[in-house]
Amino acid sequence: MFFPLVFLALGPIAFENGVAASSSIIHSDHVVHEIRALEPFDWSISHQPRAHKRLPLRIGLSQRNVENLESMLMAVSHPDSPNYGKHWTPQQVMDTFAPSEESAQNVIAWLKDAGFSPEKIRISANKGWIQVDTTVAEAEDLLKTEYHVYTHPCHNYSVPAAIQEHVELIRPTVHFTHRPSLKSEAKFKRAGILGKPSPGTGPITSSIDTLPVPPGLIECAQMMTPGCLRALYNVPQFNPLAMDKNSYGIVEFTPQAFLADDLDLFFSTFSPNVVGARPQIVLVDGAVVQNTSQGSDFNGESDLDLEYAMALTYPQNVTLLQTGDLVEGAGFDNWLDAVDGSFCTFDGGDDPFQDGIYPDTLPGGFDGPESCGIVAPPLVVSVSYGEQEWQITSSSATRQCNEYGKLGLMGTTILYSSGDNGVAGLGGQCLDSSARPVSSGGTRFNPQFPASCPFVTSVGATQMNPNSTIVDPEAACETHIFSGGGFSDIFSMPDYQKSAVSSYLTNDPPPYTSSQFNTSGSRAYPDLSANGANYVAGVNGQLMLEFGTSAATPVVGSFITMINDARLAAGKGPVGFINPAIYSDAFKDGFNDITEGSNPGCMLSLYLIDTVGFIATDGWDPVTGVGTPNVSKLISLFLALP
Ligand SMILES: *[C@@H]1O[C@H](CO)[C@@H](O)[C@H](O)[C@H]1NC(C)=O
Ligand SMILES: *[C@@H]1O[C@H](CO)[C@@H](O)[C@H](O)[C@H]1NC(C)=O
Ligand SMILES: *[C@@H]1O[C@H](CO)[C@@H](O)[C@H](O)[C@H]1NC(C)=O
Ligand SMILES: *[C@@H]1O[C@H](CO)[C@@H](O)[C@H](O)[C@H]1NC(C)=O
Ligand SMILES: *[C@@H]1O[C@H](CO)[C@@H](O)[C@H](O)[C@H]1NC(C)=O
Ligand SMILES: *[C@@H]1O[C@H](CO)[C@@H](O)[C@H](O)[C@H]1NC(C)=O
Repeated sequence: MFFPLVFLALGPIAFENGVAASSSIIHSDHVVHEIRALEPFDWSISHQPRAHKRLPLRIGLSQRNVENLESMLMAVSHPDSPNYGKHWTPQQVMDTFAPSEESAQNVIAWLKDAGFSPEKIRISANKGWIQVDTTVAEAEDLLKTEYHVYTHPCHNYSVPAAIQEHVELIRPTVHFTHRPSLKSEAKFKRAGILGKPSPGTGPITSSIDTLPVPPGLIECAQMMTPGCLRALYNVPQFNPLAMDKNSYGIVEFTPQAFLADDLDLFFSTFSPNVVGARPQIVLVDGAVVQNTSQGSDFNGESDLDLEYAMALTYPQNVTLLQTGDLVEGAGFDNWLDAVDGSFCTFDGGDDPFQDGIYPDTLPGGFDGPESCGIVAPPLVVSVSYGEQEWQITSSSATRQCNEYGKLGLMGTTILYSSGDNGVAGLGGQCLDSSARPVSSGGTRFNPQFPASCPFVTSVGATQMNPNSTIVDPEAACETHIFSGGGFSDIFSMPDYQKSAVSSYLTNDPPPYTSSQFNTSGSRAYPDLSANGANYVAGVNGQLMLEFGTSAATPVVGSFITMINDARLAAGKGPVGFINPAIYSDAFKDGFNDITEGSNPGCMLSLYLIDTVGFIATDGWDPVTGVGTPNVSKLISLFLALP
């Protein structure tokens, strides 16, 4: 499912003569434009590609006004803003961020000066990209770099200084293949004895606060169910009133897929009225909801996400954005293309080292056009997948992150799970002192993306303590998984969290220095959390227990969907980007602060974890964020906003 060939350039060749500078704005001083941040430890060189091999380059033009995106997003999302809730139309978003005519003209002039004839240069319909048909030799000369056929791409490339401000990124160059990975890998536990449903785990009304704990909720610390979640988080009876206006999307990446029988196994056990309900399926980029490969690796995530999202929000429709074909798969940009056509290009604007590129030329691949703006963005989107920041270049991450910001401007809430390895990455992997990933012995923390994007809401995980009841405080999840959290190495700290994060660093200074985490004031995550332990799920024909921020994320998405229903029914807009609200003082009562537990990571050697991570404490912390939701309270807080 990965590209067989990617490219490595050994970097700029000494640049002596420069391109012919016939235009005053284009001179020969190349400046390094993009550098791949980190060299994986296990790559080895192959050979140089033939100089005449075709290498179409796509040059992403700088979007206008992105430097104002944060303040534009705050204007519609901050509870104190007079424009709260006044979300933008897709057209407004497109008009505001489309690259300028000047950028396109400058880049075209540069290419023409470099000797490319006009018929080799094409500009995309949304004017976001310029494509130029080059050979390997021409691209090397143009970018002052060298491509090698290799198992990873080039390290850095350069563009003329005068052109730099107009160019966002050029592909293929320093990017390399990483498909989204499950947050919940290998976190399944067989639970064959779970066949018998406990009575009393059905819908609980908001009066739970004043009643003794119902008998069925005694087992919540061992088995999390929709009924337990309703009780834990003060969820009122949900009788949706605005189903036609409301929407809730769950993203899954093929070959991960749900099985209809699993949904019904789960619903018949915990939510009998939902039996037979199915998600509305949107197939993105030739996706199939496959059922030829089955097992927890193939069904665990999709089944879990849909079972909880549907049980909690029924009869609201849930939309499944099934993304990627069976051959090539897909990345985060692929689902973004499907909900915002202005993010696409006529010939695939996505990063071939991160995303599926369609039409897929591989045997059996989807040979149709990429799915571009095929569905309106759902008002809430939950994604239980992620990768490590080191796997993506900072400009690719920034471009993708800005797209989440634009969806926020349009009124969509984007939720990403914060990771299941505490301060470490997948498999407990941390970074060495030069910020390179090492399989063991790394002591620098390994931030997650897109969880670290300041324009998404990043969801961590909690647990009920052993033998506790639903009225006892929860702790950070330390059962099978640790709640992902920490500080970005790419994004700076957004204003909305500055006060909360500085309180944390002042009141409970972590025992680490800049050699463990970015202490320069960068985006901190997660933003909030919900239970992520002992979820009973119907998977591949049986009930199992699942753990992870993967579970917490669609649950939080369900709660936001309930809040949106209340607002839509009251004639208001959806909540959109919730971070500025949830960090504000007015929303403190909307969350149960989690003050116990931590998020260790960094595998010193097999099974030996050598850092305790961060600790959960009063107020926001990089383990559980602002805490777990009190849904009734949040509904009234959000309903009070315009
Ligand atoms: C770009 O890459 C080359 C070769 O890998 C290296 O010598 C050079 O220092 C790099 N430039 C920067 C600014 O990292
Ligand atoms: C929910 O989905 C079903 C099946 O796709 C569709 O028939 C129905 O109209 C949808 N309901 C709403 C309120 O959108
Ligand atoms: C598998 O999918 C096919 C095609 O959608 C469907 O006809 C069949 O019933 C499914 N089988 C199972 C066991 O779910
Ligand atoms: C939980 O309760 C069981 C049975 O009462 C007891 O054996 C066990 O030690 C308790 N566990 C903890 C962590 O308190
Ligand atoms: C720390 O974060 C900032 C963004 O706030 C980034 O520019 C910088 O490169 C990061 N430092 C390290 C060592 O990763
Ligand atoms: C949730 O908020 C309500 C007020 O709406 C409050 O009465 C209740 O105690 C809170 N529940 C928890 C668990 O904090």
